[in-house]
Amino acid sequence: MKKVPTGVKGLDDMLGGGLPLGRCILVCGGPGSGKTIFGIQFLYNGAVKYGETGLYVSLGESPIHLREDMSSLGWDVERLEKDGKLVVVDASPIRTIPEQVKIGDFSIGKRDFEMLSLIEIMKKRAEEIGAKRIVIDSISSLIVQYPDDSERRNAILDLFEAVTDLGTTSLITTELRATALERQIQAEEFLSHGVIVFHTFSDSGRLIRAIQIEKMRGISHDNQLRPYKIHENGIEVFPKESVLTST
Ligand SMILES: Nc1ncnc2c1ncn2[C@@H]1O[C@H](COP(=O)(O)OP(=O)(O)OP(=O)(O)O)[C@@H](O)[C@H]1O
Ligand SMILES: [Mg+2]
Repeated sequence: MKKVPTGVKGLDDMLGGGLPLGRCILVCGGPGSGKTIFGIQFLYNGAVKYGETGLYVSLGESPIHLREDMSSLGWDVERLEKDGKLVVVDASPIRTIPEQVKIGDFSIGKRDFEMLSLIEIMKKRAEEIGAKRIVIDSISSLIVQYPDDSERRNAILDLFEAVTDLGTTSLITTELRATALERQIQAEEFLSHGVIVFHTFSDSGRLIRAIQIEKMRGISHDNQLRPYKIHENGIEVFPKESVLTST
């Protein structure tokens, strides 16, 4: 299996070199856990270190804020956009699609139309630029509209299939609200090729960040919780350290 390095210090060691080429990986984490930073770091490194064009599809943050936030980490997103190495697509307008979309006698519901639009936008832009890496950040607002399990599975499968068909190595982020022990494994975690979880714990008032590669089909990897930090150069993982202290 060919590997695609994320360029995130420590994480590639946990992965034995990088993410499996052409696969679709789910990135789960709570608010402020670093999902967006990780996504941009993956694309930025791809463009700058490995000569791979990247596509970032935003369903939340505005591209203006994204460029500002990332510049605090020393990443000139705009420069890469101007050089054609990174394309940022603001897909958030699809969230304003009306409840029912009528095309002649045919009627399609909001959530399905949103998912179809997302897939079409992503495919079109990825093909135009010859993207090798894609980040979709985040799909939570879309999939929360599918309370029915089988409908949710189908919608997610359509998205994963479209991403995989492009042959790109892709990260899809989702929001995690519950803590590690309380959380229910969602359909999207079963359906993706790999799952990386960004956990945030509080220990006597101290914030502890830990990353876990929950699954990564086709490669052997470290599956333990490892501490990570977000600093002025982005995310760094400490693959030799443990977050669990023995007493
Ligand atoms: N320049 C920086 N130096 C150190 N830490 C930073 C810096 N910029 C951001 N951070 C940290 O990263 C966090 C934001 O990360 P990010 O936006 O990737 O989170 P997220 O998981 O995408 O959150 P959300 O669910 O709200 O979209 C901030 O809350 C802060 O703790
Ligand atoms: Mg984010």
